[in-house]
Amino acid sequence: MGLFTLLALSSLMFFASISISSAELQAKVGVCYGQLGNNLPTPSKSVELIQGLNAKRVKIYDANPQILAALKGTDLQVSVMVPNEIITNISSNQNLADQWVKTNVVPFYPETKIRYLLVGNEILSNPPNTTWFNLVPAMRKIRYSVKKFGLKKIKVGTPLAMDVLGSSFPPSSGSFRPDVSDKVVKPLLRFLNQTKSFFFVDVYPYFAWAAQPTNINLDYALMSPTNITYTDPVSGFTYTNLFDQMLDALIFAMEKLGYPNIRLFIAETGWPNAGDVDQIGASIYNAATYNRNVVKKLMAKPNIGSPARPGVVLPAFIFALYNENLKPGPGTERHFGLLYPNGTKVYEIDLSGKTPLSEYKPLPKPTNNEPYKGKIWCVVAEGANQTALAAALSFACGQGNGTCDPIQSGGKCYKPNTLIAHASYAFSSYWAQFRKAGGTCNFNLLAVQTTQDPSHGDCKFPSITL
Ligand SMILES: *[C@@H]1O[C@H](CO)[C@@H](O)[C@H](O)[C@H]1NC(C)=O
Ligand SMILES: *[C@@H]1O[C@H](CO)[C@@H](O)[C@H](O)[C@H]1NC(C)=O
Ligand SMILES: *[C@@H]1O[C@H](CO)[C@@H](O)[C@H](O)[C@H]1NC(C)=O
Ligand SMILES: *[C@@H]1O[C@H](CO)[C@@H](O)[C@H](O)[C@H]1NC(C)=O
Ligand SMILES: *[C@@H]1O[C@H](CO)[C@@H](O)[C@H](O)[C@H]1NC(C)=O
Ligand SMILES: *[C@@H]1O[C@H](CO)[C@@H](O)[C@H](O)[C@H]1NC(C)=O
Ligand SMILES: *[C@@H]1O[C@H](CO)[C@@H](O)[C@H](O)[C@H]1NC(C)=O
Repeated sequence: MGLFTLLALSSLMFFASISISSAELQAKVGVCYGQLGNNLPTPSKSVELIQGLNAKRVKIYDANPQILAALKGTDLQVSVMVPNEIITNISSNQNLADQWVKTNVVPFYPETKIRYLLVGNEILSNPPNTTWFNLVPAMRKIRYSVKKFGLKKIKVGTPLAMDVLGSSFPPSSGSFRPDVSDKVVKPLLRFLNQTKSFFFVDVYPYFAWAAQPTNINLDYALMSPTNITYTDPVSGFTYTNLFDQMLDALIFAMEKLGYPNIRLFIAETGWPNAGDVDQIGASIYNAATYNRNVVKKLMAKPNIGSPARPGVVLPAFIFALYNENLKPGPGTERHFGLLYPNGTKVYEIDLSGKTPLSEYKPLPKPTNNEPYKGKIWCVVAEGANQTALAAALSFACGQGNGTCDPIQSGGKCYKPNTLIAHASYAFSSYWAQFRKAGGTCNFNLLAVQTTQDPSHGDCKFPSITL
């Protein structure tokens, strides 16, 4: 028997011998209430909408007092975030931790059912910085304050992204990144163990699939029924979807650091309902399919768990409540919502899991499950701020070679001589030169991709071709 087989057997036996007490924890799906939009409903209207989705939990990304007040007296279990920026100061100052809890939590507890304080957001995905090493000390101080103020039902955690793993495939090879494993994750696991808290993790099969759409089957990523299975050659576990694979990679990584049974909490999962032309698989159809499937799995009775932990409860938040128009980054970032900003559902969904999949009305079939092939231009987004647009135009024209020559007086694209027409030309010209080097069609949300050629007459807009 080789060393690998021995290791595999011992890990199998290890898993078999644990049973995670979860009687006190109910399967409940919640929603992430992000507020990066300038067109979102009020907190009290939002709370109604959250209840209308049959969510049982809600996560907010700060400690917004209007939201916490609007949640008073509801049954929603609430997760509140301690901002990244104050982690370092809190980590070395118990008074600051006390102050934060006293100001942001005490006034609302217990009427607002605050249950989780999440310290920072995906801290270990940011560039290396001392905040990494202050994270667990800050969590300990916040936890101490929670105790001090007698807030009995509150646990302390920190949500991390899957990039905290250096290796995740096959799942049995799961291990934490060497730059954080010993110095941050190990103390974190010790803290979570001591305080019986959860490992909060953001799990996005969408991003894993979108990075390798030819290697990973879409239905496997969408958690749709398929006949596709993957058997981990070391653990022998058989997988029927990507989500379970990702969770188990994390479980194996924790086991390697000596903490095999810390409970998981899905801090975020979801699928975008739209995105940029050069992005793949973001559609209402796929978003509805993934989110309905994940809710069905998480709310199933008896609990399903994952191959490494069959039958366990996986508490979760779906990302996100709204499409948020001010989120930076590619178009998908602004389209994870279950709701449009006007409060209408993007597609039918019931987070209680009680609506059978067969009761949902059919949705239009997706058209972008394959990469787009053709030309793309980059033009001014609807409603762009004129002052900011003038600055972006001048920035774009300052980059590259002759980027804006045709919109100079007498040039082929000078007319119409409007800010929007000129900026659209400049954005297309900039992007055509810089996309290969990582340039984006974004300009602080002033630009969007289009497949409609904006050229007119003798004026030809530069494009990229996929
Ligand atoms: C370090 O990271 C924190 C949290 O992510 C951030 O707020 C801060 O600006 C960063 N500091 C530097 C010097 O980059
Ligand atoms: C952290 O503390 C330093 C020193 O007291 C202060 O200058 C700084 O503004 C604080 N940072 C934050 C984000 O509160
Ligand atoms: C799985 O395989 C069975 C038998 O070959 C077939 O009838 C069924 O349609 C397949 N299901 C899916 C979802 O592909
Ligand atoms: C915490 O660690 C102890 C000892 O290593 C272990 O017995 C226990 O199961 C762990 N608890 C959790 C929740 O991980
Ligand atoms: C809400 O917004 C969506 C997306 O913009 C739109 O399609 C829908 O018609 C709007 N619904 C109402 C009731 O205004
Ligand atoms: C437009 O952008 C300018 C400069 O970026 C900013 O100062 C101004 O507040 C913005 N106006 C609106 C209405 O957002
Ligand atoms: C601009 O021209 C110079 C010299 O011909 C060339 O080295 C550079 O790569 C060009 N830049 C772009 C963005 O095309």
